[in-house]
Amino acid sequence: MKSNPLEDLFHQELRSLYSAEKQLLKAWMKMSQEARHPKLRAVFQTRLRETEGQIRRLEEMASLLGKSIHSARCVGMEQMIREGESLKVADAGDAGWDASLVAAAQHLQDYEIERCCVALALACRVGQHEIEVLLEKNLKEEKAAAVRLGKVAKTLKYREPAVRERARSRREEEMCVSFPESLLWAGAF
Ligand SMILES: [Fe+2]
Repeated sequence: MKSNPLEDLFHQELRSLYSAEKQLLKAWMKMSQEARHPKLRAVFQTRLRETEGQIRRLEEMASLLGKSIHSARCVGMEQMIREGESLKVADAGDAGWDASLVAAAQHLQDYEIERCCVALALACRVGQHEIEVLLEKNLKEEKAAAVRLGKVAKTLKYREPAVRERARSRREEEMCVSFPESLLWAGAF
């Protein structure tokens, strides 16, 4: 049977998307472990769960297509993840570190949306309407995740190091005051 170039391209796009999501599984896992603010950690954990669902949907698409999508490597996503790593700033305090994670995540998120849109347009062109519906679900999640990440990033609050230091000394003073006097008299200190 003669192959259709557009269908081949669509198949290739799904394979690439599958590889991209698989790489993102590891990236979100890493970022959820690296994030210092609990709210940001939660965002990455949600992304991890959503990505698992998106991978399952892509596997469903492959069975609708009757083709394998396992043996591909999305070089674009590999580069995006590498670039994201280079954005991370280790010596900028908690707020600076988390801001660099958010910047890296936003790059990944934008790339995902772009790739999903390409696959969706191709699904429409080749008349794969069931796959189109599944891709729309993934795209909707990607867009919502990008908005959620932006919103959460704006609400993160951190204690300045000086404030933290003052709070620590206050706690230490309180501990000294609250030492039982009987212990002091007993010569324990
Ligand atoms: Fe995704």
